[in-house]
Amino acid sequence: MDIQKDIKEVLFTTEKLAERTAEIAAQITRDYAGKEPMFVGVLRGSFIFMGDLVRQVKLPCKLDFLAVSSYGSGTASSGQVCILKDLSEDVTGRDLILVEDIVDSGNTLHYLVEMLHARKPASIRLCALLDKPSRRTKPVEVAYSGFSIPDDFVVGYGLDYAEQYRNLPYIGILAPHVYEK
Ligand code: IMP
Ligand code: MG
Repeated sequence: MDIQKDIKEVLFTTEKLAERTAEIAAQITRDYAGKEPMFVGVLRGSFIFMGDLVRQVKLPCKLDFLAVSSYGSGTASSGQVCILKDLSEDVTGRDLILVEDIVDSGNTLHYLVEMLHARKPASIRLCALLDKPSRRTKPVEVAYSGFSIPDDFVVGYGLDYAEQYRNLPYIGILAPHVYEK
């Protein structure tokens, strides 16, 4: 199977992703100077972005991961957020940076921010590589946002369709023939 054939258009090349990730990491390094943030990655979509991002943050930090599911195998969220794996670390008093692949309806991050707030961290900021603002139904404030994109279903660099395409080294628009068949 040639997975490249399922990509209608490349939106962000490997180089472009690296450039933007470095800019965000530099911004976080400046904003959290003197602090020790804890990065919380939302699995599975954020795993590549998170890895690239934290390697360029020049601060002491901790990492943890949450796993959620809301999608099934379609291209629209079920709206129901389900925690498949909770954090391993205590976040009380910590400066949290929640790292997501993409904000779509806002459901996932809205839910996670409420859940984490209840655990009394010192602060929570959101960092999302991609944002589809036109699809928002729940308000979320994204402090660090990589790129705004139109309402197309995208895959690669960690993002999936039915658990495929996460390993593409770029982000591309999925060809409609893949999900319309
Ligand atoms: P939200 O809860 O609707 O904001 O959706 C967030 C989650 O939906 C993201 O973490 C992704 O896992 C998934 N998602 C939304 N849009 C896309 C897309 O275009 N491609 C792949 N996954 C997506
Ligand atoms: Mg996700």
